[in-house]
Amino acid sequence: MKTTGFKGRDFLAETDFTKEEIETVLSVAEDLKLERAKGIYHDDMLRSKTLFMIFYNQSLRTRNSFEAGMTQLGGHAHYLDPDKIYKPAMEGREVAYATERVSDVARVLDRMGDAIAIRCYGDPVDWEYGGAHEMLREFARWADIPVLNMEDDVYHPFQGLADVLTVKEKFGGFKGVNFTMSWAYSPSIHKPRAVPQSAILYATMMGMNVTLAHPQGMELAPDIMTQCEEYAQAAGGSFRLTNDFKDGVEGAHVVYPKAWCATPIFQPPIGEADVKKTQAIFDQNKDWICTSKIMDMAAKNAIYMHCLPCDRGFEVTNEVIDKTEGKGWLSAAFDEAENRLHVQKAVMSLVM
Ligand code: CP
Repeated sequence: MKTTGFKGRDFLAETDFTKEEIETVLSVAEDLKLERAKGIYHDDMLRSKTLFMIFYNQSLRTRNSFEAGMTQLGGHAHYLDPDKIYKPAMEGREVAYATERVSDVARVLDRMGDAIAIRCYGDPVDWEYGGAHEMLREFARWADIPVLNMEDDVYHPFQGLADVLTVKEKFGGFKGVNFTMSWAYSPSIHKPRAVPQSAILYATMMGMNVTLAHPQGMELAPDIMTQCEEYAQAAGGSFRLTNDFKDGVEGAHVVYPKAWCATPIFQPPIGEADVKKTQAIFDQNKDWICTSKIMDMAAKNAIYMHCLPCDRGFEVTNEVIDKTEGKGWLSAAFDEAENRLHVQKAVMSLVM
């Protein structure tokens, strides 16, 4: 277990950390979770420290798990609405007295607090794939305190951590676990790719047998696919792609079906900035919904996962997501949501 070298580091992408370091984060999260259940408090770990949280997009889980986590560790999480400060903007995208250059915001906040967390994807960067991640890297370049990624347009590294912690708890480890990340239909074409990309990165890094299932047109970023292949090979797991929902679910221990956007929505050169074309791909794939019949094709002890929020009746039926107890496959979506709190406390305690 590697416990040194975390202090002061940014948490922007899982790919910035080794497998051993991610395993340490999971161990710390398990310890904090168990100790809290036993009534042991951790409010001396980040006493009097401040986390600044800038949300360009809405959130239930991320905001509240970071806020609750900071309170439990003895510090304070401070919510910042970009429209109520001078919106942090990259050089060349500034508007007089409405925005403030990222380099300036980063250097002001790092004189006052102990970490900066940011969520940004989609509309705030005009669907320029990678634009939000680049902005987070710019914050990190200028801030001397850790910068944490609360979801950008490439990675959702804290969601991915909660996902693998949930798998570890349910199956006792990762070896031999068949993990299927699948696309599912949603009436919204505006969901980012970050969740599935982070999920398959962590799952392959941990050595699971990973299947990515999606209709044609819903491809993830080529560099993420290459990284997953490399992780799978290094960890002794596997990684495959299918365009058939049922083939993807057959025999899976983890069934993780959620919507993400189609490639044409992005600005060129990645996409075509074509909303009509994006909508058409969605309309052709309304049958990608996780029902009991679909879950019956998975392994007998399978779990259903979703990062939430989900579109009930479109991505998943009520009978699947609400089956949290009983025999056979079960929904782990709410355990997964809780684990956001524990993994974030682990990372914050290590890097802050
Ligand atoms: N899963 C997740 O990030 O949820 P929120 O959008 O509510 O933060």
